[in-house]
Amino acid sequence: MSGAGNFHVAIIMDGNGRWAQLRGLPRSAGHVQGAKTVRRIVEASARAGIGTLTLYAFSSDNWGRPGQEVDSLLHLLQCYLAGETRRCVRNGVRINVIGRRDRLPSSLVRSIEHSEALTAHCIRMQLRIAVDYSAKHSILEAARRASCNQLSVQAFQHLLAEVDHSVPESGPVDLLIRTGGERRLSDFLLWDCAYAELYFTDRLWPDFGEAELNAALEDFAGRERRFGKVLAETA
Ligand code: IPE
Ligand code: IPE
Ligand code: MG
Repeated sequence: MSGAGNFHVAIIMDGNGRWAQLRGLPRSAGHVQGAKTVRRIVEASARAGIGTLTLYAFSSDNWGRPGQEVDSLLHLLQCYLAGETRRCVRNGVRINVIGRRDRLPSSLVRSIEHSEALTAHCIRMQLRIAVDYSAKHSILEAARRASCNQLSVQAFQHLLAEVDHSVPESGPVDLLIRTGGERRLSDFLLWDCAYAELYFTDRLWPDFGEAELNAALEDFAGRERRFGKVLAETA
């Protein structure tokens, strides 16, 4: 792991709809169940010593889903923030919502700002929730803000963090997990995942638990990260 405190895990939480369909339930029931998994995994991640956990909750392309589903997803997020912020404070978890805010309902933006302010002093783990997030949009917007003498990798990274409302700025993703069987990134953290280790599981997000998280972490521990270099002992 890249230093306990800085270890960054990102999760594409996928499979809520299929979980519900398999049970003859509406897709929104899968999202309700998925929100319960979020609670479990946030706590399990803090226990596992993860420094930053970024969860993909709502992609910019998810606006293209039926209005009712969009409403239920945004409503669930608001409920999550209202119900979990105090518990996050108790557990030392700092909340940060990344992504666009200009298209979110103003009541949700107020809840986000409230949760971020209440947890700003927490240092055990940073929980980043990606909402109306599109990596392509973020990169494009940061490029628009860049001036010619500001184009170092680090300066561009600062601009990306600014675009994403990522406070504090987080480091690159070490491990990216996607549940639900698909093997794609769906416009998530394209810049940050440049050297991420990828872990795919068929497990649907509502069925994902601490044991699966630990299995992914164990798998990661066995990976050899080279960052384009040749390891000293083989050189
Ligand atoms: C993930 O589950 C939640 C979001 C994308 C918001 P899905 O709703 O994508 O579930 P599937 O992929 O249709 O099963
Ligand atoms: C990615 O899942 C977005 C989130 C998990 C929030 P999708 O279900 O939207 O992605 P695709 O459509 O399978 O690529
Ligand atoms: Mg999906």
